[in-house]
Parts: sequence; C-alpha cells; structure tokens
Amino acid sequence: MYCFYISKILKHFFISHRWINESRCKFKFIFRIFEKKHFMNIIITGAGRGIGIEIAKLLSNIKGYRVIAVSRNILALQKYSNEIPGGKNGSYLYPVSIDLNKKDFEKKFLTYVLNRFKKIDILINNAGVLVNKPLSQLTSEDFDTIFTTNTKAPFLIIKALLPYFNNPSHIVNIGSMGGFQGSEKFSGLSLYSASKGALAIFSECLAVELKEKGIRVNCLALGSTQTEMFAEAFPGHKAQTTAADMAKHIVDFSLSKKQNGKTIAVTQTVP
Ligand SMILES: NC(=O)c1ccc[n+]([C@@H]2O[C@H](COP(=O)([O-])OP(=O)(O)OC[C@H]3O[C@@H](n4cnc5c(N)ncnc54)[C@H](OP(=O)(O)O)[C@@H]3O)[C@@H](O)[C@H]2O)c1
Repeated sequence: MYCFYISKILKHFFISHRWINESRCKFKFIFRIFEKKHFMNIIITGAGRGIGIEIAKLLSNIKGYRVIAVSRNILALQKYSNEIPGGKNGSYLYPVSIDLNKKDFEKKFLTYVLNRFKKIDILINNAGVLVNKPLSQLTSEDFDTIFTTNTKAPFLIIKALLPYFNNPSHIVNIGSMGGFQGSEKFSGLSLYSASKGALAIFSECLAVELKEKGIRVNCLALGSTQTEMFAEAFPGHKAQTTAADMAKHIVDFSLSKKQNGKTIAVTQTVP
C-alpha cells in the first residue's frame, strides 16, 4: 500500500519535474526568439548631422538596438549619446570619428566595429558629399572627393564587413534622385549625380551576388530634404521634407524585410 503511494508521489514528481524542464526549454526558446528579434547591431555612416544624425537618434532609441554612428565631426552625436539610457534597455549609441576619404580608413573602421559587434544586422551607407560646380570648374580633386565618399567608401566598407554580416541582414545605400535613371537633372551636379548613379547600380549588382549569404542590398534615391547639404547646394530653396521625416522613412525601410536589389525613389520634390 505504502509502495503504491510512494510510486504515485515519485511519478507525480517526475512528471512535474519533466514539465518544469520542458517549460524551461520552451521559455529559453521563446527568450532566444525574443532576443533574436529585439537585439540589432547597426552601423550608419554620415551620422554627424542632417539625415544621418536623425537616423542614429531614432535607431538608438529602440530597445536593444546598438548603433555605431560614423562621421568626422561627432560632437553632436556625443552630446546625444550621453543623454540616451545606454545599457539600461540594451540600446547603445557609439559615435566614432572616421574620415571616409582617408587611405585605409576601413582598417580603423573594422577594428572599431569588431570591438563592439560580433555580427552586423543593418548597414546604412549614408555619408555623402555634394559639390555644386559647372564642368569647367570641376577639378580632378573634386572627382576624387565625390567618388571616394559617395561610391568608393560604401564599396570598401561592405567589402571589409562582408564576413561579419548576419544571415539575414540588410545593406541600405543612400543614393539621390540625381542618380536615378530618367529623373530631372540639374546643372552643377554632374559628378555628384554620377557618383550616386554608380552607387545605385553597385547596390543592384551586390544584391544578386550576396543573396546566397542572406544579405539584402537596396539603394534609396532621396529627393530634396532640408539639411545643411541641401541649403549649400540650393541656396534660397526650401525642401518640403525635413531631415527627421526622411530619417523615419529610411529607418522603416531598413527594418523592413521585403525588397532586395532595388533602387527606390523617396521623394516629394526635386530639388
Ligand atoms: N538633403 C538632400 O536633399 C539629399 C537629397 C538626395 C540625397 N541625399 C543624400 O543623403 C545623405 C545625407 O545627406 P544630408 O543632406 O544629411 O547631408 P549632410 O547634412 O551634409 O550630412 C552628410 C554627412 O556625411 C558625413 N560625411 C561627409 N563626408 C564624410 C567623410 N569623408 N567621412 C565621414 N563622414 C563624412 C558628414 O559629416 P562630417 O562632415 O562630420 O564628416 C555628415 O554627417 C547623403 O548621402 C546625401 O548625398 C541628400
């Protein structure tokens, strides 16, 4: 009789113990999905001002999102990163000063990234430079500055980071309506527009090449957005889109999982 009750108790203990273990496994599994879904390692260039700093602010405010923000001048970013609750909710903003026009910049870039991230989920190549000059005044140095910042730097960054992209991950290259085939063109922007056109085609080609690794590559061709760059390029004009509105669109697109190999116009007006 006693044996019967003892075996019942043991059986009950065994079942409940197994249930606890199974539940623990289930919780761990759910936790892992949660962790996977909510922890993101993101890199954005050209984040010192304009659209870039707005993107960095938005992303580093999302719980569990860690953002490396690259620019030459990082004063504004540092001021902002001191204000965000770094670590409290798992989100961080790491500002780093790197000049994308310097030879071998990608070595410093890679070291900085690998000291913080094991894998990369999103890369936004946003840094850009605009020179507004007619052909007769454009110099060989202008060509190098424009193409190095707008086209070669994204190439060098993607190449250096290639082994460290997650599967899946997303590369968003920031182009321009000036570099969008068939769009209205403007005097003085020939090299700038050509550099952005090259970036768009580069993105489309990479999307095919990197598809197998689970890396999506897209290019957003932006229209006029009220920033320092816009004010310098088109003095006296006022853009309808604010940097914050454009940043919101870019953030939503970067987090979306639909497109690959596309150059997408994002514009209200040009210029
Ligand atoms: N605003 C528009 O109407 C418009 C339209 C179409 C496309 N876009 C594109 O959108 C992106 C953002 O433009 P924006 O209007 O926000 O321009 P912005 O205000 O001039 O900002 C450009 C950013 O790029 C960084 N940058 C430039 N050269 C760099 C270098 N050599 N190394 C590191 N960082 C560098 C600048 O920071 P530092 O100077 O501190 O380095 C700055 O943070 C650009 O790619 C631009 O071509 C803008």
